[in-house]
Amino acid sequence: MTAPLIDPFARAISYLRVSVTDRCDFRCVYCMSENMTFLPKKELLTLEELDRMCSTFVRMGVQKLRITGGEPLVRRDIMTFFNAMTRHLDSGALKELTLTTNGSQLERFADQLYAAGVRRVNVSLDTLDEKKFADITRWGRLPQVLRGIDAAQRAGLRVKINAVALKGFNEPELPEITRWCAERDMDLTWIEVMPMGDIGNEDRLDQYWSLRDVRAEYEKHYTVTDLAERSGGPARYVRLEETGQKIGFITPLSHNFCESCNRVRLTCTGELYMCLGQEDMADLRAPLREHADTEEPLEAAIRAAIERKPKGHDFDYSRQRVGGQMSRHMSHTGG
Ligand code: GTP
Ligand code: 5AD
Ligand code: SF4
Repeated sequence: MTAPLIDPFARAISYLRVSVTDRCDFRCVYCMSENMTFLPKKELLTLEELDRMCSTFVRMGVQKLRITGGEPLVRRDIMTFFNAMTRHLDSGALKELTLTTNGSQLERFADQLYAAGVRRVNVSLDTLDEKKFADITRWGRLPQVLRGIDAAQRAGLRVKINAVALKGFNEPELPEITRWCAERDMDLTWIEVMPMGDIGNEDRLDQYWSLRDVRAEYEKHYTVTDLAERSGGPARYVRLEETGQKIGFITPLSHNFCESCNRVRLTCTGELYMCLGQEDMADLRAPLREHADTEEPLEAAIRAAIERKPKGHDFDYSRQRVGGQMSRHMSHTGG
């Protein structure tokens, strides 16, 4: 292994999130516009390039890879890539290989993912109502996702549900979603909706449901205890005493967790974003493509990028109103 990646604020970078495609079979309203134009396929890193890229990061100290999209499981031959990463798990260099998915393809892939060494998946699911599910995803079919979740659990994968908190949408469903997850022994995390994607979508501001209020909603139904534990990620946790269940809250807007940030994200076109909430990025595709026989230029480019990792993000809904919204799509950067 080469020297580990340490940023200017002494944070070790051990976690890489990788978007393997900007495509998705759904069009969640907070994520994509209805008529998204996707990138030409030739812009994407090939599976071999993704392998070289991730392997270089692993050599440089990355211990956790989270594969995202878009929807990672709609990328053609994606199992070839997962299977290639298994060797880093086997060598012990990589501690965790995981993915965030909308669940639509899990029925087909769950067993193969387990065989590749994946042990946990995060599934995005905002509602348990078929009609509302079709609305929020614009055409997704809930039963297909539920079958995917069942298949994942049967395959031995631990499932975490991510629900984007949307006022007036899944607000009334909070007790039901919570109970449903508890019955299946699945963790549940609520995510505050972030100002990404289409500019000028005023609805998103109206739908902003602060997790402070989500917590208050829980307090109406349960005894809520704060847990000190942090997963090394952005989530904070509480326990519901009546059920013993642990609930996560990801509050990128109302709570700043940047001081312990250990992650960077690679887009499907090979750009490295040092922070989800900042525009600065480094092109890693050029040093990768221009040097097929050595990874040294790529390593140098990665180190130079990490030197620029900012102290924190500056998401701010008030800035969005005056035009400060991130113009990137979540599906490109991978959440
Ligand atoms: P771990 O990888 O185990 O930490 O899980 P996770 O919950 O971070 O992963 P997941 O892909 O399920 O992410 C859920 C959401 O967390 C993302 O879509 C983002 O909304 C948010 N998130 C993850 N990482 C970051 C980050 O570095 N900064 C901010 N602001 N939000 C993040
Ligand atoms: N705000 C918050 N979460 C979002 N996601 C996608 N777009 C947004 C947004 N604008 C979530 C998905 C998924 C995760 C990867 O990102 O629901 O759980
Ligand atoms: Fe697809 Fe996930 Fe975006 Fe929904 S949030 S459109 S499932 S990538």
